Amino acid sequence: MTPDEVRQQLAAVRAHDLPTHGGRTLAYVYDSGLAEADALGREALAAFGGTNGLDPTAFPSLLAMEQDLVGLAADLLDGPPETVGSVTSGGTESLLLAVQTARDSRPDVERPALVMPSSAHASFHKAAHYFGVRPVLVDVDPVTGRAVASAMAEAIDADTVLVVASAPSYPHGVVDPVTEIATHAQAAGVRCHVDACIGGWLLPYLRRDDPGVPAYSFLVPGVTSISVDLHKYGYTPKGVSLLLHRSPELRRPQLFASAAWPGYTMLNTTTQSTRSGGPLAAAWAITRLIGDDGYLALAREVRDGLATLVAAVGVSAHLRVVGRPDTSLLALAADDALDVFTLADELLARGWYAQPQLSSGPFPATLHLSVSAATVPRLPEFLTALDAAVDAAVAAGPTTADPGLAAVLAELDPASLDDAGFDQLLAMAGLSDGSGAPALPTRMAAVNAVLDVAPTALREALLVGYLDRVSRPVRAAGGVASSGS
Ligand SMILES: Cc1ncc(COP(=O)(O)O)c(C=O)c1O
Repeated sequence: MTPDEVRQQLAAVRAHDLPTHGGRTLAYVYDSGLAEADALGREALAAFGGTNGLDPTAFPSLLAMEQDLVGLAADLLDGPPETVGSVTSGGTESLLLAVQTARDSRPDVERPALVMPSSAHASFHKAAHYFGVRPVLVDVDPVTGRAVASAMAEAIDADTVLVVASAPSYPHGVVDPVTEIATHAQAAGVRCHVDACIGGWLLPYLRRDDPGVPAYSFLVPGVTSISVDLHKYGYTPKGVSLLLHRSPELRRPQLFASAAWPGYTMLNTTTQSTRSGGPLAAAWAITRLIGDDGYLALAREVRDGLATLVAAVGVSAHLRVVGRPDTSLLALAADDALDVFTLADELLARGWYAQPQLSSGPFPATLHLSVSAATVPRLPEFLTALDAAVDAAVAAGPTTADPGLAAVLAELDPASLDDAGFDQLLAMAGLSDGSGAPALPTRMAAVNAVLDVAPTALREALLVGYLDRVSRPVRAAGGVASSGS
């Protein structure tokens, strides 16, 4: 291909993606609305895209920028002078490392366990799965969505290597009682991680206007580590989070070296080995450009935008906000005349993306909204679209799973399904055409309605079955081997 052909193809393949800028995508992306910051970030991303954080002595620029970012975050999150940290590829990697580090700090514990609120991010389940740690889930308050510190304390035992609190939780946007949870953990001699992937770059600014914002930082004595994502409310390109530890001793088990092979000596702070300096440089550039005053202004915009949304939903006939969100995320639940999955489709048809969340425990299915600064000026437009989408979804009536299918799903053991059975089930769920070829549905309500009535294990099996099929490559007939080249 010529360069221009490549450019055209790249533009064409992007055509069906959600927009990353403009404030109409209320999940997955975080947009400051600051064109200059975006442009500078892209420049830095490109300039450092080929550098490699594999060896800090080979690219000292990366080490220097990493230490700057860690220092900045340590200041924001009230870290003591001994605070150390690492740049990771995202919130998930930060949480994986927090769990791995906690596990490896306790070689004396044979069956390590992780005590977490049921609202904690799914990455903790992934970490538990990867590192052979037993997740101990503690129900959150069914009304507020907040972790219940006394119940968390009861769940801590001799096997517990880590206790988790979220600031805020993703599903309902509420900050857990960090002080109480960390105090219980400390009394038991257990590490406590605060997942501030969302709130870590917002709460410190919100606190400047309101000292009453819930605790989230190293000011709480029992907090041993904190994760914060720059690619969320730091408004930097994807690929940058920070994992901070209160002291070098606490971080020590995170560091890995291997000299047990004939190649270069490997020395890593994170799960990645080769690590592009691009996202790190972009984060460094953007945080420098936006600066403290800039982030304060952005946090205020988001706070006011959230208040506007909560007030508007408060007078809506069919919607309500779950709990009382603390930062920038909220979950909308609907009454019986409306279902949130149809509402999501109707919003998308009007150019707005909101993220469906399946029902879970005492919580109904909800629509998740992440408010970015770029969304705030467009809220009047959004609220008009929301009203129209609600009317359309109410008129259409709720999308429900076929009762017969729901009954089958409730009883089905995913372990009993072979590939053909899966193909059949995926077709019934609207996720393939029955031939095994996966489909990307344009309207998702019917799919979500089916997933919503399935038990958790079956939901997971269906999702993995779908991902397995949708992520297979499309090959030219016969592949390269038979093409004679
Ligand atoms: C609270 C929280 N923790 C962790 C993560 C995982 O972050 P990432 O998607 O960057 O891996 C998220 C993502 O939304 C989150 O909201």
